[in-house]
Amino acid sequence: MYKQALFFFIVAIVLSTAHAGFTCAKPCYGNMCCSIPSNNQYYLTDFCGSQSACGPIPSCTAGQYFTADSQRFGCGKYLNVCRNSNKHCIKAQIIDAGPAMWVEQDAGIAIIDGSPQLCKELFGVNSCGWSDRFSISALLTSADDTRPLGPFNVTDHEFEQMIITHNIALEQCENSKQCSK
Ligand SMILES: *[C@@H]1O[C@H](CO)[C@@H](O)[C@H](O)[C@H]1NC(C)=O
Repeated sequence: MYKQALFFFIVAIVLSTAHAGFTCAKPCYGNMCCSIPSNNQYYLTDFCGSQSACGPIPSCTAGQYFTADSQRFGCGKYLNVCRNSNKHCIKAQIIDAGPAMWVEQDAGIAIIDGSPQLCKELFGVNSCGWSDRFSISALLTSADDTRPLGPFNVTDHEFEQMIITHNIALEQCENSKQCSK
């Protein structure tokens, strides 16, 4: 009985590993993933707390627009996080590192960990975890982007422009080696 249970347990692990769609090209900082998916697709999860890798406190009070994932993009950078189905977006600032890579491996996709306000405004829920499978795109803004933090809507054309801007921003931070930290 015990042996059988162990056997199925091992089979389950092997299967779940084989089926996980997430392979990290650039593991970093011991337990995170620094690579940026070329299709810019993630699941959205949320977090808040009392300390962060970048300095600013990821406050749990409502109305905050922040994300983690500084290991991918850099502390203090700005991300436009957009719901894929309807192009509702939120501009948020990166103020922490995370999530741990094992969460992304469990989810089978990279994750943007953001403030609870992002879940609320993009998906109408008070909090979100990877198993909700809330599909988003995340794109870096340009350095001189003046849009305030918070929600905005984009047309398909504007979204395409945002992808171009993101790719330029990525190139710049790769050249200056200031992307992930
Ligand atoms: C975005 O569009 C929706 C309608 O699809 C509207 O309800 C919402 O207020 C708009 N948001 C912003 C920030 O303009």
